[in-house]
Amino acid sequence: MQFKLALLALAGVALADTTSSLRLSDSPESTTFPCNTNTPDSTLTSTTSISVASGCSFSKTLTATVQSDLDDLSSCSAIEGDILITGDLATASIANVKAIYGSLTVFNASSLTSFAADSLTTITKQLELSQLTILDTLSLGSLDSVGAINWVTLPALTSSGLHGVTDCQSIYISDTQLESLDGLNPLVVESFNVNNNKNLGSINSEIQSVSNALSVSYNGDDTDVSFDSLKWANNITFYSVSSINLPNITTVNSSIGIFESNVEDLDFSGVTKIGGDLSIENNDELTSVDFSSLTSLGGGFVVVNNSKLAGIDGFDELKSIGGAVILKGDFDNATLPSLSTVRGGFDLETTGKVDCDEFESLSKKGGIQGDKFVCSAATESSSSVNHSKTADSSSSGSGSATASDESTSAGSSSSSKGAAAINGVSVFGTLSALLLALL
Ligand SMILES: *[C@@H]1O[C@H](CO)[C@@H](O)[C@H](O)[C@H]1NC(C)=O
Ligand SMILES: *[C@@H]1O[C@H](CO)[C@@H](O)[C@H](O)[C@H]1NC(C)=O
Ligand SMILES: *[C@@H]1O[C@H](CO)[C@@H](O)[C@H](O)[C@H]1NC(C)=O
Ligand SMILES: *[C@@H]1O[C@H](CO)[C@@H](O)[C@H](O)[C@H]1NC(C)=O
Ligand SMILES: *[C@@H]1O[C@H](CO)[C@@H](O)[C@H](O)[C@H]1NC(C)=O
Ligand SMILES: *[C@@H]1O[C@H](CO)[C@@H](O)[C@H](O)[C@H]1NC(C)=O
Ligand SMILES: *[C@@H]1O[C@H](CO)[C@@H](O)[C@H](O)[C@H]1NC(C)=O
Repeated sequence: MQFKLALLALAGVALADTTSSLRLSDSPESTTFPCNTNTPDSTLTSTTSISVASGCSFSKTLTATVQSDLDDLSSCSAIEGDILITGDLATASIANVKAIYGSLTVFNASSLTSFAADSLTTITKQLELSQLTILDTLSLGSLDSVGAINWVTLPALTSSGLHGVTDCQSIYISDTQLESLDGLNPLVVESFNVNNNKNLGSINSEIQSVSNALSVSYNGDDTDVSFDSLKWANNITFYSVSSINLPNITTVNSSIGIFESNVEDLDFSGVTKIGGDLSIENNDELTSVDFSSLTSLGGGFVVVNNSKLAGIDGFDELKSIGGAVILKGDFDNATLPSLSTVRGGFDLETTGKVDCDEFESLSKKGGIQGDKFVCSAATESSSSVNHSKTADSSSSGSGSATASDESTSAGSSSSSKGAAAINGVSVFGTLSALLLALL
């Protein structure tokens, strides 16, 4: 029941008429909700239901520029409407308010050093904090449900001030000094994007699924990323991380890419299916890759310029690849023993020694359907083959760009271009797929 309701909410179905009967968590003072017929859209899977007193409902954004504007709200235990705090305040606090059925934004308050709203348990839309250049103290000790966290450019903030957010659909945290994401513990999210937080040495999350994108990038050089409970994510992108620990992942519905990272090994041994591209590029410390349960890859397969990677192995069960294969670098061993179908082209170029016979014979059998076939290795090795079925077969370009760009233009059943990918995943809106599957 709770899950279905979450899906309805995700799909943007208004909860307006059904809120009272579908109410999920009761709070002591809950009476009827709402007194106003115009319930805000919510992406939350659960909300409190505190009645909104008259005088606590705003149709236009309430803009607070001095503390007394916020003091005026302290007689409201719930507010319906959007609140914006901006201007010259040095400190700001919201007392007594438990729920905001709307958004709370604190923006461009360049003198603000602290913000507190310790009674607040729920914000149905987003909590946006942005351009708060000296904000160093944040206190949101009761917050447990928030539609979205959107924190950008908080260059003095080292601690989140959160204690137990368990329900949050979307997380975007960029350009802060946060040292940890403690206190932010949702189990199910649509998106998780944490980037350019230079003090963030590790991310440990209990998130179980990410229905859109999981992205961690450029948070200093040594971010250890650990999502112990993650079972699936629609797509995953990592740039500049130092370790990746996703022991429970089985499915990447769309694409996964690991770029410019200091990771030494990639253990994705539980992953059986990747719906889109797999890209592993420019990881200078990478020595081993384990995708030993992966049987099908819906998009392109790109392993390029990982200078310490001695071989392309660890893909022993991989049978079909829906896009192009682009393998480039200085590796001595490349073997894909189960591979039977490549819908795109094949381009292996190494300065090391690779036996091209396996791929050559796959190509001769028609297993490589794209126009391009290149297998080029150091001459000491047995064969080095270049041929192209058409004169102007598309160049392999710079790896992933080619494979992923084309894999998103799904639908064509013949792969006339080298890197074309046949990928049904993006055709089906993910939310409607979920709804159809579960309702
Ligand atoms: C930010 O606030 C300053 C004054 O406090 C103002 O001059 C500036 O225009 C504001 N910037 C934006 C983007 O609102
Ligand atoms: C990993 O998955 C297994 C089996 O589904 C489960 O028993 C275990 O609790 C999961 N681990 C974590 C940390 O969630
Ligand atoms: C390959 O890696 C080297 C060393 O990290 C880097 O300088 C170079 O730009 C990379 N090449 C490509 C094509 O990304
Ligand atoms: C190449 O990889 C295969 C498969 O993992 C392995 O069995 C073989 O020993 C490797 N060869 C070399 C020369 O490393
Ligand atoms: C095959 O083509 C690659 C570039 O696509 C080139 O670097 C290599 O020298 C060619 N090898 C042979 C044997 O023609
Ligand atoms: C995630 O996957 C979808 C296809 O399901 C794609 O359209 C989208 O661009 C991807 N997003 C990212 C950030 O890779
Ligand atoms: C992704 O795959 C998992 C496991 O097969 C499935 O449960 C989930 O519904 C899929 N998610 C999306 C967004 O397609």
